[in-house]
Order: sequence, then C-alpha cells, then structure tokens
Amino acid sequence: MISCDTKKSSIKPTTKEHMDAGFKTIENMQSAYKGEMTATAKYEAYSKKADEEGYHQIAILYHAVAAAEKIHATNHKAVIEDAGSTVPIIKPEYTVKTTKENLSDDINGEAYEAKTMYPDFLKTAEIADNKIAVLSLTYAMKTELKHKYFFEQTLGDLNSNTLNSMSSIYYVCPACGNTYTTAPKHCDFSLTDKEKFITFQ
Ligand SMILES: [Fe+2]
Ligand SMILES: [Fe+2]
Repeated sequence: MISCDTKKSSIKPTTKEHMDAGFKTIENMQSAYKGEMTATAKYEAYSKKADEEGYHQIAILYHAVAAAEKIHATNHKAVIEDAGSTVPIIKPEYTVKTTKENLSDDINGEAYEAKTMYPDFLKTAEIADNKIAVLSLTYAMKTELKHKYFFEQTLGDLNSNTLNSMSSIYYVCPACGNTYTTAPKHCDFSLTDKEKFITFQ
C-alpha cells in the first residue's frame, strides 16, 4: 500500500524543476505586469470612447475595470521587486475601435487571461513555491473571470438595447482588484473591509 507521504514525494518537483519554475515565475510576473499595465491604459481609453458614444454606464464599467487592472499590476510589481528583479518599462499598445467591438475583444482577452494564461502561470508559481506570486496571480485570475462576465453582460445589453438595466455604480477592492456592482461586507477574494472599496459612478 502506498502511503500518503510516498504519494506526495512522487509529485514533489526535483531541485532543478523547482529552480527552473522559480526563474520562469519571475518572467511570467514580468509578462503579466506588462499585460496589466497595458490593460489599465487600454480600458481608460475605452472608457473615454464609450463616453464619446454616449454610453455613460459602460464608461463607468471600463473606468472601474482599469482601476482593477492597475491593482493587479501593482501587486505583480511588488512580487518582481521582492525577487530583486527588474520591473519592465511599459509602453502600452492597443487599438481603440467602437465600444461594441472593444467589448467583444475584451471578452476574449479576459477569457484568455482567466482560463489559460493565469492558470498556467499559477501552476509554475506553485511548483516554485513562490507564495506571493501565487497570491497575486490568484487575485488577478479570479478578477478577470468577473471582468469577462461584466463585459458579456454589457455587450448583451448593448445588442438588445437594454443598457438602462446596467449598473451605474461599481466597487473595486484595493487589495485584489475584485470588482462588484453590489459591495459585500468583506471582499470575497481578499477579505478586505468594504469601507476600503473604491467607488465608481
Ligand atoms: Fe487584471
Ligand atoms: Fe480584467
């Protein structure tokens, strides 16, 4: 019979795997930092575009999501700095299309981050046993899934002419970027008190 301990040791990474994962994790954090900084600038531009098109509520959503991405970037930056590594200098590149097109692109972008990129980065950070990277990546991954949901809802409302049913207030947790239309007492990702949430309206 195989004991639990034996099972555990059979999946334990070798020293080389552990070290490689450590280096790879910092590379991944740099790449994620770039992505989050670019998303911050892009969503601010999309917020302005939505306002220009007369979609004030969509502009608020984009503004809140931009703030959430900035929080992810700040968290990732802290992980990179604590590893003694270089924080990349970012020159955000993005294209502003119509709000309908922007929303559609963003659904795909957030889905990729939430379901492919962050889960992959997370797996490597777990092998590396980099606990703060795991925390920062988890916060971002879980938030991006909510962003995907908000963008899907909004595109649906835009297509069916029901934008008046959209929320005109959003809350962002300053610790993890979690984004809400209704603030719970404590953030359900980071347990931050709702008094600390940033309000967008
Ligand atoms: Fe993010
Ligand atoms: Fe996001």
